[in-house]
Amino acid sequence: MVTIREERIADVAAREALLDKAYGVARFAKTSERLREGRTPASGLSLVAADHRQLVGTVRLWNVAAGPGRNALLLGPLAVHPDHRNRGIGTALMRRVIARARLAGHRAILLVGDAAYYGRFGFSAALTGELRMPGFCEPHRLLALELKSGALAGARGVIGTIGTAEPKPAGSPTLIAAEGSKRRALVQRAA
Ligand SMILES: CC(C)(COP(=O)(O)OP(=O)(O)OC[C@H]1O[C@@H](n2cnc3c(N)ncnc32)[C@H](O)[C@@H]1OP(=O)(O)O)[C@@H](O)C(=O)NCCC(=O)NCCS
Repeated sequence: MVTIREERIADVAAREALLDKAYGVARFAKTSERLREGRTPASGLSLVAADHRQLVGTVRLWNVAAGPGRNALLLGPLAVHPDHRNRGIGTALMRRVIARARLAGHRAILLVGDAAYYGRFGFSAALTGELRMPGFCEPHRLLALELKSGALAGARGVIGTIGTAEPKPAGSPTLIAAEGSKRRALVQRAA
């Protein structure tokens, strides 16, 4: 049986392995990653799908500004393990995280993805015509869902970061520098 629940610290390694499987190292080169790196997700909005003890799905939401002075959330990455696709797990993660964001009083969710998939949850490029990601993004893939009617009316400009910076990792300066250069190497390989 698949359970949708909040992500725990013990899930992090399995979540990263799942994202590597779903997206490969190219995920670190995505423009959405520029809005996530070095930050923590929005409170209570990191969910996983677990099938018994195996982590089979992940979704997280991040605090961003949809142009100056307009708070919103950025969704992603969403991923389901290849062996568990087409069982409704992606849909369950999406519906649960949207409901939680609405309950928490958030006003809108943005994402970069396929309208053919995300349209079923109400996401559309119609609301993002005047918004831009901070790097390359095909305009038809920048999608939004309003949780409060009119939340994105007149939204324009570059989507930027807000929210909490990630605490510095524990460990020696050498270890931290090594982690940073590994990530840079992955980004260069993926670009
Ligand atoms: C996208 C993803 C999260 C869907 O997870 P899932 O658990 O298989 O999704 P669900 O079971 O809820 O839904 C499956 C449906 O979504 C459709 N679907 C999956 N990916 C799709 C896409 N990129 N575009 C359009 N439809 C898609 C399937 O064809 C299926 O359609 P059906 O309901 O008509 O049979 C999963 O395929 C994944 O992790 N993919 C890797 C990341 C990726 O490619 N993301 C692309 C979206 S930007």
